[in-house]
Amino acid sequence: MDKLLIKGGRRLEGEVRISGAKNSALPILAATLLSSERVTICNLPHLHDITTMIELLGCMGVQVLIDEKLNIEVNSETMTVFTAPYELVKTMRASILVLGPMLSKYGEATVSFPGGCAIGSRPVDLHLKGLEALGASITVEQGYIKAKSPGRLTGGHVFFDTVTVGGTENIMMAAVLAQGRTIIENAAREPEIVDLALFLNAMGAKVTGMGTDTLVIDGVESLHGCRYSVMPDRIETGTYLVAAAATGGRVVVKDTRPGMLDAVLAKLEEAGANISCGQDWIALDMPGRPKAVSIKTAPYPGFPTDMQAQFIALNTIAEGTGTVIETVFENRLIQVHEMNRMGAEIRVEGNTAIVTGTVQLKGAPVMATDLRASASLVILGLVAAGETLVERIYHIDRGYECIEEKLQLLGAHIKRIAA
Ligand code: EPZ
Repeated sequence: MDKLLIKGGRRLEGEVRISGAKNSALPILAATLLSSERVTICNLPHLHDITTMIELLGCMGVQVLIDEKLNIEVNSETMTVFTAPYELVKTMRASILVLGPMLSKYGEATVSFPGGCAIGSRPVDLHLKGLEALGASITVEQGYIKAKSPGRLTGGHVFFDTVTVGGTENIMMAAVLAQGRTIIENAAREPEIVDLALFLNAMGAKVTGMGTDTLVIDGVESLHGCRYSVMPDRIETGTYLVAAAATGGRVVVKDTRPGMLDAVLAKLEEAGANISCGQDWIALDMPGRPKAVSIKTAPYPGFPTDMQAQFIALNTIAEGTGTVIETVFENRLIQVHEMNRMGAEIRVEGNTAIVTGTVQLKGAPVMATDLRASASLVILGLVAAGETLVERIYHIDRGYECIEEKLQLLGAHIKRIAA
């Protein structure tokens, strides 16, 4: 398994370009199953999860043509298999997102039950309850979810007890071809939900209310083809901004959208960063040592859970003590133990990490446990004295396109060691 070797102590300076958003590209690729015509998707990030989703579509008989820029053309009319197999679903939980569109378009869908992962049990009960509210009959047999609907799904009223990004996406995709109106209450408001809704409407769907907690979808008979470009990745954006702040650097992040990151930018300014924004860029300058900040994760527009690990990393070398409360996932503080091996001073009490800033961390061999935790270990490696070897970086390759090249362009001493 590949590793990243980082020699700490360099300030990050320069420009970095942001890729398409993984967490928008995945539901959008699943939603291509809904179209009766060819669909072209642009600005896809070159990530392992994206190739896994493309492989999943292919194994169900969907025709996928990929050009050299990883723009892809999808024709799902060639679909012959209505099953998402365990072998693929076990490597990427987001495979569950093909359930809603497949059921809605073809009246049947069999998807391996996604397991939990390092950050939590991550059930899909709300997805299934929502599909049943649209008239689906669902059973779980030998580890597979089997969903059927006699004819078209029927529009219904779905209320999510917990805000769920994937659940909102699955029900929205199922509802666009249902008979009648669907109302989703306590819906997720993430920018990725808005991007998916805009993509569905570009194919002729009728989704309104995106970005609010109430979505209204009026079902249509069929969807036509379109060409759509995926939004920029707000978490990749935030990760590079935090990395620059941690090293006392000065960077400009380009091809992004500042409006998707208000909570993150506010916390970076509280930490002492000078930030300016344009339409598609954010400039950050961190003069000196950051100040510790306290955060509490919450569904959008609250502070994103996907930026929690990165801010713990920032706090480990900040002035003062910051508390980080994780409210979305039950086990998303596990990376602190690896951070403490580098000299960080982090105490965990339940879902709260109390981080006391230290002046100097020491490089060490560390192991990643999930996507964002692995990015936070890279940030620590950038600021620690000496060398840090981050292992199990397949987690990183799932969510960060060409991370070592992008960091090298910003002046970091980082290289990949193929194992
Ligand atoms: C999406 O995961 C993202 N993944 C996650 O990003 C992100 O952390 C998460 O949303 C929250 O913003 C993708 O978009 C591919 P949820 P998702 O359903 O949809 C509970 C990353 O690093 N829940 O909003 O799986 C669940 O256990 C990844 O890029 C139920 O109880 O998250 C969790 O506690 C990590 N029942 C909470 O809701 C359900 O049926 C939020 O989960 C569904 C969810």
